[in-house]
Amino acid sequence: MSVIDRPKANTGSSDMSVSGAADEAFAKDVLAGLSKPQKELPCRWFYDRRGSELFEQITDLPEYYPTRTEAEILNACVDELREIVGPGVALVEYGAGAAVKTRILLDALDTPAFYAPIDISAEFLQAVAANLAQDYPAIKMRPIVGNFLSEVEVPGDLLTAGRRLGFFPGSTIGNLSDHEITSFLTRARRQLGDDGMLVVGADLRKSPDILIPAYDDAAGVTADFNKNLLVRINRELDGGFDLEQFRHQAVWNDVDSRIEMHLVSERSQSVDVLGRSFDFAAGETIHTENSRKFSILALQALADTCGWRALRSWEDPSKLFSVLLFG
Ligand code: AVI
Repeated sequence: MSVIDRPKANTGSSDMSVSGAADEAFAKDVLAGLSKPQKELPCRWFYDRRGSELFEQITDLPEYYPTRTEAEILNACVDELREIVGPGVALVEYGAGAAVKTRILLDALDTPAFYAPIDISAEFLQAVAANLAQDYPAIKMRPIVGNFLSEVEVPGDLLTAGRRLGFFPGSTIGNLSDHEITSFLTRARRQLGDDGMLVVGADLRKSPDILIPAYDDAAGVTADFNKNLLVRINRELDGGFDLEQFRHQAVWNDVDSRIEMHLVSERSQSVDVLGRSFDFAAGETIHTENSRKFSILALQALADTCGWRALRSWEDPSKLFSVLLFG
């Protein structure tokens, strides 16, 4: 997966495919993040190989409702979506790898002309495109290597094809900062064009009784996912984190409408990373992820400020998750 952008992407420098630039960016983010009064690490660094595997496992957990609920909504709404978007679209996916969900759209849309996944890993993109090409020989594959949180170059034939339909599933939008969300939506409007449309999967506000177990599951998979960031720092940045001395924590922040993941220091300790020492008080945390939970109206209003008009939204019967269409 790309950066935060994509849960299945792999930015892991444990991978030979990853460049020195990514290693440097990781080192910079870690040293800067651990130097802040509230220590923090950007969640995009979760997704090395092991992190991507653990995320896969999370999506199958009984407590983690978003993945299966979004697939259920897509299956239920896709006929209506086909009618609205029309024939011959170019499907542009922000982050590749949501294969199951992508296939729901490719199966149901009216003769889609192109599939263009955007991801920072060229290798991963090739694999995704090759895989889909076998099952959808009539759809032209146009993988785009790049980070969709910054500018990417859209292939020329996509610009002259029919309508472009953006697809940003998984509530990955909830892991972005306010600024990242507005710049992403503004850029997507430009990339997809005036008659372009955008489908976004967004997790909805709900009781912490549902949210907390979804981010702190009984089997401890999310805890391993969170702590894998420390494993990665130990391996790649000569870190000295003692994994026994940090524990996973998921908290609901009602004011900012988000689940926060933290790693809590079990005691007062110092940890070395790349030769620098960082002090932790007992109970002090490293903030590792925000997962925002939206209200449909608030997200539609936000998209409106970025040039998108809300066309339609669909939810599951329990209103856990929403798929929104903008045009
Ligand atoms: C990738 N992203 C949408 C997930 C989420 O729910 O925010 C990442 C995740 N973090 C913990 N569990 C899943």
